[in-house]
Amino acid sequence: SFRQQIPKGLKRLSGPRGYPLIGNVLELGSNPHLTLTQMSQKYGDVMQIQIGTRPVLVLSGLDTIKQALVKQGEDFMGRPDLYSFHNVGDGQSLAFSTDSGEVWRARRKLAQNALKTFSVSPSPNSSSICLLEEHVSKEADYLVRKFLQLMEEKKRFDPYRYVVVSVANVICAMCFGKRYDHDDQELLSIVNVTDQFGDVAASGNTADFIPVLQYLPNSTMKKFIEFNKRFLRLLQDIVKEHYESFEKDNIRDITDSLIEQSQENKVEANANIQLPKEKIVNLVNDLFGAGFDTVTTALSWSLMYLVTYPDIQKKIQEELDQTIGRERRPRLSDRPMLPYTEAFILEMFRHSSFMPFTIPHCTTKDTVLNGYYIPKDLCVFVNQWQVNHDEKLWKEPSKFDPERFLHAGGTEVNKADGEKVLVFGLGKRKCIGETIARWEVFLFLTTLLQQLEFSISDGEKVDITPKYGLTMKHKRQPKVEGVGTTHVLKVT
Ligand code: HEM
Repeated sequence: SFRQQIPKGLKRLSGPRGYPLIGNVLELGSNPHLTLTQMSQKYGDVMQIQIGTRPVLVLSGLDTIKQALVKQGEDFMGRPDLYSFHNVGDGQSLAFSTDSGEVWRARRKLAQNALKTFSVSPSPNSSSICLLEEHVSKEADYLVRKFLQLMEEKKRFDPYRYVVVSVANVICAMCFGKRYDHDDQELLSIVNVTDQFGDVAASGNTADFIPVLQYLPNSTMKKFIEFNKRFLRLLQDIVKEHYESFEKDNIRDITDSLIEQSQENKVEANANIQLPKEKIVNLVNDLFGAGFDTVTTALSWSLMYLVTYPDIQKKIQEELDQTIGRERRPRLSDRPMLPYTEAFILEMFRHSSFMPFTIPHCTTKDTVLNGYYIPKDLCVFVNQWQVNHDEKLWKEPSKFDPERFLHAGGTEVNKADGEKVLVFGLGKRKCIGETIARWEVFLFLTTLLQQLEFSISDGEKVDITPKYGLTMKHKRQPKVEGVGTTHVLKVT
């Protein structure tokens, strides 16, 4: 028999019976986050499914996920060897490659440090508290002006297309010291089609599990490969320019700082780890790639909820008026004074759960979880959507209600509840951009809502059904209208 021997006293993983060759592919369907949530109700927090002939461990339940990713973090911190991931960043990605040992650890540290220096560290020669605040304030102001101009010219427009360039400009400023125009075709050809990436990189892409599919004509996979090539080419050109104008006494941005690190090879703590130059400098690919699509998606969902629930939008604006007024722009330091706004952002993350799964993990050794025997090199999906809609944690999970995060009286956010929302992963592979992302969403949103009101035409409805992917998007809304506070932006 092929059935593996299970050490005595441990349970064998169970899950739905699969068909020969395809396993549970048909049951997964087009919304794996929903079907796997349903299956977990029958088979539990630790279940095994089969995609093609390959077994996959699916984790649900906040406590179980914490046990695996935090308490047994070393055992679960690997990345599986998936065909599609070979195409990301030339197979050298920090986030998607199979590196999980010392090389990954050293690179992750370098990326974190470079990111911090050019975002949240105190800014010595600027009126802003840090570079992140400076960049976001500037881009959010441009965005307000762009929206007003579009309103005058067209009355209706797709906000996504403009939000994505503004958000990309923030990470561009930090990574490359550069910004793009809202009509830059090269940038638009990448940032506007990120679904070509997310459709394939999502958990459960069948071509990763049924090898024969890689050899059949597959337009989604083809687009994915093309997307990664275009992306790499754009960044390689920028990095080349940086090498040519590099001066070690004038470190301008994250790319410069990584070039400097690669030349001095001053990887502290682990002097015995020699990283090839490219493996340092190309970290900028991961930062840029992870930095714009996620935050754009968060803002875009925020706008959809705001037009769907005008009363909630009004409450945020009242809070802004009372706390900040209209004489000055919002700042990062205003965040603790705006509990309702904070609760709205938490509810947007929870309700949309737009990253339904983390990036897939894999086990680094044989281990045990909740009494189940789990072999080494097993691919692991972490169902964040399930946690955020778990009836054991949330009252009426399908209802959009920011107030669920406020203490009675509404003057303070319930921190413990906020920490139950799972969108950035947990443990060793946890997102390294979490702080930046939360600050960015806060500052973009408050700057927009201080000056603009978003709405849909009477009688129209927005479709907020998400489409499955690594980051789930709602339908693009081709027609948006608007005015400023003073005006109203209409999304139809
Ligand atoms: C990884 C979410 C923004 C950089 C991740 C993961 C998630 C996530 C779920 C995978 C965790 C895992 O595999 O367990 C988000 C969300 C964001 C966001 C929801 C915005 C709302 C950012 C930003 C940056 C960033 C702004 C950088 C500028 C990264 C990197 C990784 C990562 C480099 C890979 C870490 C590793 O594999 O070691 N993020 N992220 N993210 N994120 Fe984010």
